Amino acid sequence: MSKDLHQGNWKLYLGLAGLAAVTLGLGAGLFYYGTRVETKRFRLEQLRVRTGTIGGATSGKQSLKILHISDLHLSGNDEEKVQFIRKITDEDYDLIVLTGDVFEFLDGLKFGPSLLSRRPRLGAYAVFGNHDYYDYSIFNKTFGRLNRKYRHPARRNNIEPHRISLEAGGFKVLINESVLIAEENLFIVGIDYFGIKENELQKLMDKAPVDALKLALFHVPKYLDSFSKAGFHAAFGGHTHGGQIRVPGLGALITDSDLSRKNASGMVDVGGTKIHVSRGLGADPRSNIRLFCPPAATAIELIHGPGPSAKSANAVHASQLI
Ligand SMILES: [Fe+2]
Repeated sequence: MSKDLHQGNWKLYLGLAGLAAVTLGLGAGLFYYGTRVETKRFRLEQLRVRTGTIGGATSGKQSLKILHISDLHLSGNDEEKVQFIRKITDEDYDLIVLTGDVFEFLDGLKFGPSLLSRRPRLGAYAVFGNHDYYDYSIFNKTFGRLNRKYRHPARRNNIEPHRISLEAGGFKVLINESVLIAEENLFIVGIDYFGIKENELQKLMDKAPVDALKLALFHVPKYLDSFSKAGFHAAFGGHTHGGQIRVPGLGALITDSDLSRKNASGMVDVGGTKIHVSRGLGADPRSNIRLFCPPAATAIELIHGPGPSAKSANAVHASQLI
C-alpha cells in the first residue's frame, strides 16, 4: 500500500515536472518569436477611407495617397527597419505623415537624413512622441505604471537634434504648428506630444480656408472628440503599437490611451472625424516584444469631397501588401 502510494507520488511529480517543462518551453518559444521574429515582420497595409462632411463644405473632390508611419523607435542598429521604410517610400505618395516616437536613442539620429527614398509630392510631415522627449528607464516602465509620478524621467530631452535629423531627410516637423498647401487646398496641423490648448488650436484653425481639407497629426490618442470639435476631416496618430501583444480571441490587452482595446489601432470615426491610429513599426527596445501584432505602415487613399454619405462610403479595405 505504502509502496503504491510512493509510486503514485512519483508519477504525479513527473507529470507536474513535464507540464512545467512544456509550459517553460512554450513560453521561451513565444518569447523568442515575439522578440526576434515578429518585431521584424514589417508590413505595408492598405486602407481606403472617405471623409465625412464635418469641417466645412468643400467644392471639389480630392483624392490623396498618404503613407502613415509611426513609432519607429530608431536606435543605431535598426538597419532592417530603415531598409523597409526606404523600400516602401520608393512609391509615389502625395503625402507622408510620421506620428511620433521617431528616435529611441541618439545613435538612431543617423537614419533621419536617409529615411525616405523619395520626397512625396506634397511633402512629409512629422510630430514628436513621448520617446523623443524622454529617455525611459526600466524603473519608469515598471514602477511608473503603478505611480504616475515616476511615469516619465525627470529630465526632458533637447529635441533640436531630432528635428535637424528629420528635416535633413525632407520632413517638416510640426510642433503645434500648421501648414497650408494652398494649391491643393490642404491644411495640416501637427500637435506635439504635450498637447495644445484649445484656444491655441483654434488660432491655428482660423488660418485654414473654410473649404480646405483639414488634417491633424498627433502622437497619443487622447481627447479624440477634440478633433471633430476643431473641424478636422481626418487625424493620424500612433503610440498604442496596436496593443503590442494581442491575445487570440481577446485582442489587445492595453492601449495606453483613450481608445478601447477593440480599437487599439486602425480607423475609427469620432464625431465625424476619421482617425487613423498606426500599429507602428517599432517599440521601446526595453519591451521589444510583439505577439500577434506585427509592425505596420499604412498606405491610405483618402477621398474628400462630395459623394455618398459618410456612413455608407466609410468602406475600409485593408490588405497586406508586403
Ligand atoms: Fe511608441
